[in-house]
Amino acid sequence: MRIAILYQSLRGGTKKLAESLGANFQGKGSLVGVFPITNYDAQFVLGADLIVIGTWTDGLFGLGARPGQIGKLNTLRDIAHKDVALFVTYEISPEKSLSGLIEWAHDRSANVVASAGFKVRGPFRKNIEADIQMFVENSLNLVEQS
Ligand SMILES: Cc1cc2nc3c(=O)[nH]c(=O)nc-3n(C[C@H](O)[C@H](O)[C@H](O)COP(=O)(O)O)c2cc1C
Repeated sequence: MRIAILYQSLRGGTKKLAESLGANFQGKGSLVGVFPITNYDAQFVLGADLIVIGTWTDGLFGLGARPGQIGKLNTLRDIAHKDVALFVTYEISPEKSLSGLIEWAHDRSANVVASAGFKVRGPFRKNIEADIQMFVENSLNLVEQS
């Protein structure tokens, strides 16, 4: 399985998570490329079986949360009918930013196979290893089925 992981990160947390996801996909036998969404290998992304797209949660910590820097994500070329797995990083709640990102992908006619939020920092530190495993396994299972 060829997996392209595209991320938008402001302070490095989402980049680090994208790299952890990449290592996990690789550990399961996939060929992986991890790129900032504004600077990716178009050939690699075009040939990918799955495109994983992630950004951070922007908002007022509780109110009006949305996918961070969506303008950067909008520079991504056509993903219509591509299998995509989506993630957001957050500190308080991933709900609104994740649903915003899912809506963004649906607007582009992508096929969303998996989605998850990852708490990479903030109060109540959480061990996210299990979340990473689950996201990677779900993504791979659903891409194989489609
Ligand atoms: C301006 C700003 C607004 C944020 N708003 C929210 C928010 O509304 N809800 C939340 O859960 N996290 C919020 N966060 C936290 C980030 O989503 C979180 O720290 C994320 O992992 C940062 O990723 P990065 O290190 O790649 O920039 C905010 C962070 C910043 C800088």
